[in-house]
Amino acid sequence: MIFTSLIQTNLTTKIFGHEIEYFTFTDSTNEDVWESLQDEIDEGFLVITDQQQKGRGRRGNNWLSEPGSSLTFSFLIKPKLPLERIGLLSLITGVAVAEGISLFSQLNCKLKWPNDIILYGKKVGGILAESKQIDGEIYVVMGVGLNVNELELPSEISSMATSLRLEKKSVLQREPMLALILNAFELLYNSEESKWIEAWNSHCVHLNSDVKFHHGNETIQGTFFKIDNMGQAIININGINKNFSSGIVELS
Ligand code: BTN
Repeated sequence: MIFTSLIQTNLTTKIFGHEIEYFTFTDSTNEDVWESLQDEIDEGFLVITDQQQKGRGRRGNNWLSEPGSSLTFSFLIKPKLPLERIGLLSLITGVAVAEGISLFSQLNCKLKWPNDIILYGKKVGGILAESKQIDGEIYVVMGVGLNVNELELPSEISSMATSLRLEKKSVLQREPMLALILNAFELLYNSEESKWIEAWNSHCVHLNSDVKFHHGNETIQGTFFKIDNMGQAIININGINKNFSSGIVELS
């Protein structure tokens, strides 16, 4: 059970999280926000569930959430950014998730490019941004899945995934933590874009580290330098910096 009033009493935002729809169970909160667009919802509208049954992950993967334990939500953004820069929104969402968790629990989450939430080298959360252009306007649905109070993770991911509770060794209340995430998001969203890049780089877990980088069919060995002002990864390969807009960073 999620108590939406507990989220809202902890909000300092003007836009994000003021209108919330809660489902005890649903297929995908991202899909729910898209469907709600027919009802002319405002920017900041949020859907949260306690049990997501067909969660969508990045690159066509499934996303597993555990009823009663995971934090699973999506919200609507009507960005004032050109289409080619909307990828930056998922980067600042990652920063906001890390900042909200840190404020709430003192756990120091990091980011793996582009926006995996990492805790002590393991994935603790992920972000799926979906965008559509409808009647000339851009809409983005930002979906976040976080492992919060799981004591065990499915065997197929348990070696590379963790939960906040497993690391903190205590139960965390999801609602106020979500409010802190939304507060952090709105602050960043309203700040200058140069701050977004600076904030993301400062949370990156592999900044200036040697990484394996999977790009198309290629696996490249290089040093992850930082992200550029478009959010692209700058990787130094044999002394030369190359910018990538997609790919997978493998931590060593
Ligand atoms: C990833 O693969 O790392 C991203 C996972 C994103 C999952 C979240 S859970 C809430 C929202 N609804 C979905 O169907 N997916 C996103």
